[in-house]
Amino acid sequence: MKKILVTGGAGYIGSHTVVELAQAGFEPVIIDDFRNSKESVLSGLRDILGRDVPFHRIDCGDAEALRGVLRAEGNIEGVIHFAAFKAVGESVQKPLAYFRNNVGSLLTLLEVLPEFGVENLVFSSSCTVYGNPDALPVRETTPTKPASSPYGRTKQMCEDIIHDAAGAPGNRLHSILLRYFNPIGAHASARIGELPLGVPNNLIPFVTQTAAGLREKLTIFGNDYDTPDGTNIRDYIHVVDLAKAHIAAVQRLLDRTAPEVVETFNVGTGHGNTVLEVVQTFERATGQKVNYSIGPRRPGDVPAIYADATKVAEVLGFKTETSLADSLASAWKWQLSLAK
Ligand code: UD1
Repeated sequence: MKKILVTGGAGYIGSHTVVELAQAGFEPVIIDDFRNSKESVLSGLRDILGRDVPFHRIDCGDAEALRGVLRAEGNIEGVIHFAAFKAVGESVQKPLAYFRNNVGSLLTLLEVLPEFGVENLVFSSSCTVYGNPDALPVRETTPTKPASSPYGRTKQMCEDIIHDAAGAPGNRLHSILLRYFNPIGAHASARIGELPLGVPNNLIPFVTQTAAGLREKLTIFGNDYDTPDGTNIRDYIHVVDLAKAHIAAVQRLLDRTAPEVVETFNVGTGHGNTVLEVVQTFERATGQKVNYSIGPRRPGDVPAIYADATKVAEVLGFKTETSLADSLASAWKWQLSLAK
């Protein structure tokens, strides 16, 4: 079984990817320091997979600790690098922490991996690199725009760093950059899912917590955008679908079929939905009412973005399978499981 190191493997997208890797016949090895995740994720993974997933509690920005893991594990065939901070608002408050963590951990990986002959990297990027795009849907060739937050800037910088490192003499690393749109929902088992610490920043956990009575009401951030109902448009992709894109990416790297050492893919459904559509779909899919009101715009929000998912379909053979309604129903099932 091919060993794949998953940094941030206890996180939201990371944990779902660990499940898909294991079920596709890979041996995932998790590194995580739980700074933004919980140890209970490991027991959720054990319940789903029926076995423990190898795990190392380290900060992947710590080069010596990373070397220790790579030495101890031996023959790691590839790395999927999730470990990063991801809250847009927090990144404005603590920009240096975001650069140190998100850029720093990538630099450490890029320095250490060649020492151990690891030549395959999948990097978690984001549609945030497009900024506020001029045309929709966005293609991988759509020019990136200035990021609206330090978080977004870290993703742009990390992409640039990977390209520059790939162009250096003697480089042997092959990388795939996955630009995620908005991941939502949870594993069908409801044993793993999104675990926001404190008040959720993201829409779906806020919706499920409001429906569960943990929050009084959802504030929809603006209804005066130039969209059909005035609320923002995003491309919401089920997290298990998103996880599966990583398996296709790892396989492509291992097969060495790519014509370029760095490839970029949008990973979204190719469809946009407004915030109001999401709330209404949630209500229909779950039978739960969501108390909401319209508030002011949130600084930094782009009016609308959704993926052109043609390249990921043609090259990686990847298509999403889960509808918005089913994705939202899985988020609700997960919310209910948290109350138990
Ligand atoms: C943003 C980034 C994404 C990044 C993610 C990390 C963009 C286009 N997307 O997602 O790349 O990975 O942050 O967190 O930059 N909303 C409400 N009320 C709420 C919460 C959200 O109305 O209480 C609305 C937002 O205005 C937005 C939508 O719901 O229109 C989705 O918001 P959110 O879940 O925070 O994700 P993005 O901001 O789209």
